Amino acid sequence: MKISTALSQARLVLDSKGVSNSGLDSLILLSHTLFLCGKSFSKEWVIFNPDFELDLDQQKIFLGLVSRRENREPISQIIGKREFFGEEFLVSKNVLDPRPDSESLIELILKIFPEKTKKLKILELGVGSGCLILTLLRLYVEASGVGIDISSEALEICKKNSEKQLVSDRLKLLKSDLFEILKQAQDDGYETQKGDFEGQKKYDLIISNPPYIPSKEIEDLEPEVRIHEPRIALDGGSDGLDFYRKIATSAENFLNKNGKIILEIGFGQKEEIVKIFSKNKFKLTDLKPDLAGTDRALCFEL
Ligand SMILES: C[S@@+](CC[C@H](N)C(=O)[O-])C[C@H]1O[C@@H](n2cnc3c(N)ncnc32)[C@H](O)[C@@H]1O
Repeated sequence: MKISTALSQARLVLDSKGVSNSGLDSLILLSHTLFLCGKSFSKEWVIFNPDFELDLDQQKIFLGLVSRRENREPISQIIGKREFFGEEFLVSKNVLDPRPDSESLIELILKIFPEKTKKLKILELGVGSGCLILTLLRLYVEASGVGIDISSEALEICKKNSEKQLVSDRLKLLKSDLFEILKQAQDDGYETQKGDFEGQKKYDLIISNPPYIPSKEIEDLEPEVRIHEPRIALDGGSDGLDFYRKIATSAENFLNKNGKIILEIGFGQKEEIVKIFSKNKFKLTDLKPDLAGTDRALCFEL
Protein backbone atom coordinates (compact mmCIF):
# COMPACT_ATOMS: atom_id res chain seq x y z
CA MET A 1 0.00 0.00 0.00
CA LYS A 2 1.23 3.51 -0.85
CA ILE A 3 1.75 6.15 1.84
CA SER A 4 -0.93 8.34 0.22
CA THR A 5 -3.54 5.55 0.43
CA ALA A 6 -2.64 4.65 4.01
CA LEU A 7 -2.90 8.29 5.06
CA SER A 8 -6.26 8.92 3.43
CA GLN A 9 -7.75 5.71 4.88
CA ALA A 10 -6.47 6.59 8.37
CA ARG A 11 -7.86 10.09 8.07
CA LEU A 12 -11.33 8.79 7.18
CA VAL A 13 -11.32 6.39 10.14
CA LEU A 14 -10.18 9.07 12.59
CA ASP A 15 -12.70 11.60 11.25
CA SER A 16 -15.49 9.08 11.79
CA LYS A 17 -14.48 8.84 15.47
CA GLY A 18 -14.51 12.61 15.96
CA VAL A 19 -10.73 13.01 16.20
CA SER A 20 -9.80 16.60 15.41
CA ASN A 21 -6.53 17.09 13.49
CA SER A 22 -7.02 13.68 11.83
CA GLY A 23 -4.71 14.63 8.94
CA LEU A 24 -1.82 15.72 11.14
CA ASP A 25 -2.30 12.77 13.49
CA SER A 26 -2.23 10.31 10.57
CA LEU A 27 1.03 11.87 9.38
CA ILE A 28 2.59 11.66 12.85
CA LEU A 29 1.52 8.03 13.23
CA LEU A 30 2.91 7.09 9.82
CA SER A 31 6.22 8.75 10.52
CA HIS A 32 6.28 6.97 13.92
CA THR A 33 5.51 3.65 12.17
CA LEU A 34 8.58 4.10 9.96
CA PHE A 35 10.63 5.03 13.03
CA LEU A 36 9.49 1.81 14.76
CA CYS A 37 10.57 -0.07 11.63
CA GLY A 38 14.07 1.39 11.82
CA LYS A 39 13.63 4.27 9.34
CA SER A 40 13.89 7.70 10.92
CA PHE A 41 11.77 9.71 8.46
CA SER A 42 10.22 13.05 9.40
CA LYS A 43 6.61 14.11 8.79
CA GLU A 44 7.94 16.26 5.93
CA TRP A 45 9.54 13.18 4.32
CA VAL A 46 6.20 11.37 4.56
CA ILE A 47 4.42 14.32 2.88
CA PHE A 48 6.91 14.44 0.01
CA ASN A 49 6.95 10.69 -0.63
CA PRO A 50 3.27 9.79 -1.20
CA ASP A 51 4.21 6.93 -3.58
CA PHE A 52 6.50 5.13 -1.12
CA GLU A 53 5.22 1.56 -0.77
CA LEU A 54 4.66 0.39 2.82
CA ASP A 55 5.46 -3.28 3.32
CA LEU A 56 3.05 -5.60 5.16
CA ASP A 57 4.77 -5.18 8.54
CA GLN A 58 4.65 -1.41 8.23
CA GLN A 59 0.96 -1.50 7.26
CA LYS A 60 0.15 -3.70 10.24
CA ILE A 61 2.00 -1.46 12.70
CA PHE A 62 0.36 1.65 11.23
CA LEU A 63 -3.11 0.10 11.56
CA GLY A 64 -2.40 -0.74 15.22
CA LEU A 65 -1.39 2.84 15.97
CA VAL A 66 -4.41 4.26 14.15
CA SER A 67 -6.73 2.01 16.11
CA ARG A 68 -5.23 3.30 19.39
CA ARG A 69 -5.90 6.85 18.19
CA GLU A 70 -9.44 5.78 17.19
CA ASN A 71 -9.93 4.92 20.87
CA ARG A 72 -8.98 8.52 21.57
CA GLU A 73 -5.63 7.75 23.16
CA PRO A 74 -3.64 11.02 22.94
CA ILE A 75 -1.14 11.10 20.12
CA SER A 76 1.67 11.92 22.58
CA GLN A 77 0.97 8.77 24.63
CA ILE A 78 1.00 6.66 21.45
CA ILE A 79 4.36 7.99 20.30
CA GLY A 80 5.61 8.40 23.91
CA LYS A 81 6.80 11.99 23.67
CA ARG A 82 5.66 15.60 23.55
CA GLU A 83 7.45 18.87 22.88
CA PHE A 84 7.49 21.63 25.49
CA PHE A 85 9.40 24.91 25.26
CA GLY A 86 11.47 23.58 22.37
CA GLU A 87 12.51 20.30 24.04
CA GLU A 88 11.18 16.77 23.75
CA PHE A 89 9.73 15.15 26.89
CA LEU A 90 9.02 11.46 27.37
CA VAL A 91 5.39 11.00 28.42
CA SER A 92 3.15 8.09 29.41
CA LYS A 93 -0.35 7.44 30.69
CA ASN A 94 0.95 8.27 34.18
CA VAL A 95 1.75 11.92 33.51
CA LEU A 96 -0.17 14.92 32.29
CA ASP A 97 0.71 15.82 28.73
CA PRO A 98 2.75 19.04 28.80
CA ARG A 99 0.42 21.78 27.53
CA PRO A 100 1.37 24.85 25.46
CA ASP A 101 -0.58 26.97 28.02
CA SER A 102 1.97 26.02 30.69
CA GLU A 103 4.68 27.81 28.70
CA SER A 104 3.13 31.04 30.13
CA LEU A 105 4.51 30.05 33.54
CA ILE A 106 8.03 29.72 32.12
CA GLU A 107 7.69 33.04 30.29
CA LEU A 108 6.58 34.79 33.48
CA ILE A 109 9.60 33.41 35.36
CA LEU A 110 11.95 34.52 32.55
CA LYS A 111 10.50 38.02 32.85
CA ILE A 112 10.83 38.12 36.66
CA PHE A 113 14.33 36.58 36.74
CA PRO A 114 16.10 37.83 33.58
CA GLU A 115 19.55 36.83 34.84
CA LYS A 116 20.19 33.30 33.51
CA THR A 117 23.14 32.64 35.81
CA LYS A 118 21.13 33.28 38.97
CA LYS A 119 21.59 30.46 41.48
CA LEU A 120 17.85 29.98 41.92
CA LYS A 121 16.65 27.35 44.36
CA ILE A 122 13.42 26.02 42.95
CA LEU A 123 10.75 23.78 44.46
CA GLU A 124 8.08 22.28 42.21
CA LEU A 125 4.97 20.66 43.65
CA GLY A 126 3.57 18.08 41.22
CA VAL A 127 6.34 17.64 38.64
CA GLY A 128 4.57 15.13 36.34
CA SER A 129 6.75 14.76 33.22
CA GLY A 130 9.06 17.46 34.62
CA CYS A 131 8.30 19.89 31.80
CA LEU A 132 8.33 22.92 34.12
CA ILE A 133 11.23 22.33 36.49
CA LEU A 134 13.47 20.72 33.85
CA THR A 135 12.90 23.59 31.44
CA LEU A 136 13.89 26.01 34.23
CA LEU A 137 17.01 24.00 35.08
CA ARG A 138 18.00 24.09 31.40
CA LEU A 139 17.41 27.84 31.16
CA TYR A 140 19.01 28.75 34.51
CA VAL A 141 22.30 26.94 34.25
CA GLU A 142 23.26 27.42 37.92
CA ALA A 143 19.83 26.77 39.42
CA SER A 144 19.02 23.68 41.48
CA GLY A 145 15.69 22.15 42.27
CA VAL A 146 13.58 19.82 44.34
CA GLY A 147 10.70 18.18 42.48
CA ILE A 148 7.84 16.57 44.36
CA ASP A 149 5.07 14.31 43.16
CA ILE A 150 2.70 11.92 44.88
CA SER A 151 2.96 9.49 41.95
CA SER A 152 6.00 7.19 41.80
CA GLU A 153 5.33 6.56 38.10
CA ALA A 154 5.41 10.29 37.37
CA LEU A 155 8.67 10.67 39.31
CA GLU A 156 10.17 7.86 37.24
CA ILE A 157 9.29 9.65 33.97
CA CYS A 158 10.58 12.95 35.36
CA LYS A 159 13.86 11.26 36.32
CA LYS A 160 14.31 9.85 32.81
CA ASN A 161 13.63 13.27 31.30
CA SER A 162 16.09 14.93 33.67
CA GLU A 163 18.79 12.45 32.60
CA LYS A 164 17.99 12.94 28.90
CA GLN A 165 18.21 16.71 29.33
CA LEU A 166 21.45 16.50 31.35
CA VAL A 167 20.12 18.30 34.43
CA SER A 168 19.67 15.34 36.81
CA ASP A 169 22.70 16.42 38.86
CA ARG A 170 20.87 19.62 39.86
CA LEU A 171 17.53 18.00 40.67
CA LYS A 172 16.37 16.07 43.73
CA LEU A 173 13.11 14.16 43.24
CA LEU A 174 10.96 13.25 46.22
CA LYS A 175 7.71 11.34 46.64
CA SER A 176 5.39 13.33 48.88
CA ASP A 177 1.90 14.70 49.37
CA LEU A 178 2.73 18.34 48.59
CA PHE A 179 4.95 19.81 51.38
CA GLU A 180 4.53 16.79 53.71
CA ILE A 181 8.07 15.35 53.40
CA LEU A 182 9.59 18.84 53.71
CA LYS A 183 7.52 19.55 56.84
CA GLN A 184 8.68 16.29 58.42
CA ALA A 185 12.29 17.08 57.58
CA GLN A 186 11.89 20.59 59.03
CA ASP A 187 10.31 19.16 62.22
CA ASP A 188 13.14 16.69 62.83
CA GLY A 189 15.82 19.31 62.12
CA TYR A 190 16.73 17.70 58.76
CA GLU A 191 18.40 14.85 60.65
CA THR A 192 16.80 11.77 59.06
CA GLN A 193 16.97 13.02 55.47
CA LYS A 194 20.08 15.13 55.63
CA GLY A 195 21.46 14.32 52.19
CA ASP A 196 18.17 15.14 50.51
CA PHE A 197 17.95 18.64 51.87
CA GLU A 198 21.53 19.87 51.98
CA GLY A 199 21.34 23.54 51.01
CA GLN A 200 17.68 23.19 50.00
CA LYS A 201 15.69 24.06 53.10
CA LYS A 202 14.10 27.19 51.70
CA TYR A 203 13.47 28.21 48.12
CA ASP A 204 13.62 31.37 45.99
CA LEU A 205 10.86 30.05 43.82
CA ILE A 206 8.00 27.64 44.47
CA ILE A 207 6.17 26.63 41.33
CA SER A 208 3.17 24.44 40.67
CA ASN A 209 0.67 23.56 38.00
CA PRO A 210 -1.57 21.68 40.41
CA PRO A 211 -4.66 19.66 39.51
CA TYR A 212 -7.32 22.36 39.11
CA ILE A 213 -10.36 20.88 37.40
CA PRO A 214 -13.50 20.82 39.57
CA SER A 215 -14.28 17.12 40.20
CA LYS A 216 -17.71 17.25 38.57
CA GLU A 217 -16.36 18.79 35.34
CA ILE A 218 -13.98 15.91 34.62
CA GLU A 219 -16.81 13.87 33.09
CA ASP A 220 -17.37 16.63 30.49
CA LEU A 221 -13.79 16.63 29.22
CA GLU A 222 -12.67 15.13 25.90
CA PRO A 223 -11.98 11.36 26.06
CA GLU A 224 -8.26 11.99 25.49
CA VAL A 225 -8.16 13.70 28.89
CA ARG A 226 -11.06 12.07 30.76
CA ILE A 227 -10.07 8.48 29.97
CA HIS A 228 -6.38 8.60 29.20
CA GLU A 229 -4.82 11.19 31.52
CA PRO A 230 -4.26 10.39 35.21
CA ARG A 231 -7.13 11.59 37.38
CA ILE A 232 -4.75 12.67 40.16
CA ALA A 233 -3.23 15.14 37.69
CA LEU A 234 -6.63 16.69 36.97
CA ASP A 235 -8.93 16.61 39.99
CA GLY A 236 -8.73 19.79 42.07
CA GLY A 237 -11.63 18.93 44.41
CA SER A 238 -15.19 20.22 44.38
CA ASP A 239 -14.38 23.77 43.22
CA GLY A 240 -10.99 22.94 41.67
CA LEU A 241 -9.12 25.02 44.24
CA ASP A 242 -8.10 22.48 46.93
CA PHE A 243 -4.42 22.52 45.99
CA TYR A 244 -4.21 26.32 45.97
CA ARG A 245 -5.59 26.39 49.54
CA LYS A 246 -3.02 23.83 50.68
CA ILE A 247 -0.13 25.59 48.94
CA ALA A 248 -1.18 29.01 50.30
CA THR A 249 -1.29 27.79 53.90
CA SER A 250 2.13 26.08 53.90
CA ALA A 251 4.31 27.95 51.41
CA GLU A 252 5.56 30.70 53.74
CA ASN A 253 7.64 28.21 55.75
CA PHE A 254 9.58 27.19 52.67
CA LEU A 255 10.24 30.53 51.02
CA ASN A 256 13.43 32.57 51.26
CA LYS A 257 13.16 36.30 51.90
CA ASN A 258 11.78 37.84 48.67
CA GLY A 259 10.81 34.35 47.52
CA LYS A 260 8.05 33.97 44.97
CA ILE A 261 5.28 31.49 44.30
CA ILE A 262 4.40 31.10 40.63
CA LEU A 263 1.34 29.04 39.77
CA GLU A 264 -0.60 27.95 36.76
CA ILE A 265 -4.35 28.42 37.12
CA GLY A 266 -7.48 27.33 35.25
CA PHE A 267 -9.89 29.47 33.25
CA GLY A 268 -11.75 32.00 35.44
CA GLN A 269 -10.01 30.97 38.69
CA LYS A 270 -7.91 34.11 39.22
CA GLU A 271 -10.20 36.08 41.56
CA GLU A 272 -10.78 33.17 43.95
CA ILE A 273 -7.12 32.19 44.01
CA VAL A 274 -6.04 35.77 44.73
CA LYS A 275 -8.49 35.75 47.68
CA ILE A 276 -7.08 32.45 48.98
CA PHE A 277 -3.51 33.76 48.87
CA SER A 278 -4.37 37.16 50.33
CA LYS A 279 -5.91 35.42 53.37
CA ASN A 280 -2.42 33.95 53.82
CA LYS A 281 -0.66 37.34 53.52
CA PHE A 282 0.44 36.88 49.88
CA LYS A 283 0.05 39.67 47.30
CA LEU A 284 -0.41 39.10 43.58
CA THR A 285 2.64 40.84 42.09
CA ASP A 286 2.60 39.74 38.45
CA LEU A 287 0.71 37.61 35.97
CA LYS A 288 0.90 36.28 32.43
CA PRO A 289 -1.96 35.36 30.11
CA ASP A 290 -1.75 32.41 27.73
CA LEU A 291 -1.94 32.75 23.93
CA ALA A 292 -5.75 32.87 24.08
CA GLY A 293 -5.59 35.85 26.49
CA THR A 294 -6.70 33.85 29.57
CA ASP A 295 -4.85 34.69 32.80
CA ARG A 296 -2.74 31.56 33.18
CA ALA A 297 0.28 32.17 35.43
CA LEU A 298 0.19 34.16 38.69
CA CYS A 299 3.08 35.33 40.85
CA PHE A 300 2.56 35.81 44.61
CA GLU A 301 4.89 37.32 47.21
CA LEU A 302 4.61 38.05 50.91
C1 LIG B 1 -1.59 19.13 36.49
S1 LIG B 1 -0.31 17.95 36.75
C2 LIG B 1 1.10 18.95 36.36
C3 LIG B 1 2.28 18.16 35.88
C4 LIG B 1 3.42 19.04 35.32
N1 LIG B 1 3.98 19.90 36.31
C5 LIG B 1 2.93 19.86 34.15
O1 LIG B 1 2.82 21.09 34.28
O2 LIG B 1 2.65 19.28 33.08
C6 LIG B 1 -0.28 17.83 38.50
C7 LIG B 1 0.72 16.87 39.10
O3 LIG B 1 0.54 16.89 40.52
C8 LIG B 1 0.68 15.58 41.03
N2 LIG B 1 -0.06 15.51 42.30
C9 LIG B 1 -1.39 15.32 42.50
N3 LIG B 1 -1.67 15.34 43.81
C10 LIG B 1 -0.51 15.58 44.46
C11 LIG B 1 -0.15 15.72 45.84
N4 LIG B 1 -1.07 15.63 46.79
N5 LIG B 1 1.14 15.93 46.14
C12 LIG B 1 2.09 16.00 45.17
N6 LIG B 1 1.81 15.89 43.84
C13 LIG B 1 0.53 15.68 43.50
C14 LIG B 1 0.12 14.69 39.93
O4 LIG B 1 0.63 13.37 40.05
C15 LIG B 1 0.58 15.42 38.67
O5 LIG B 1 1.83 14.93 38.25
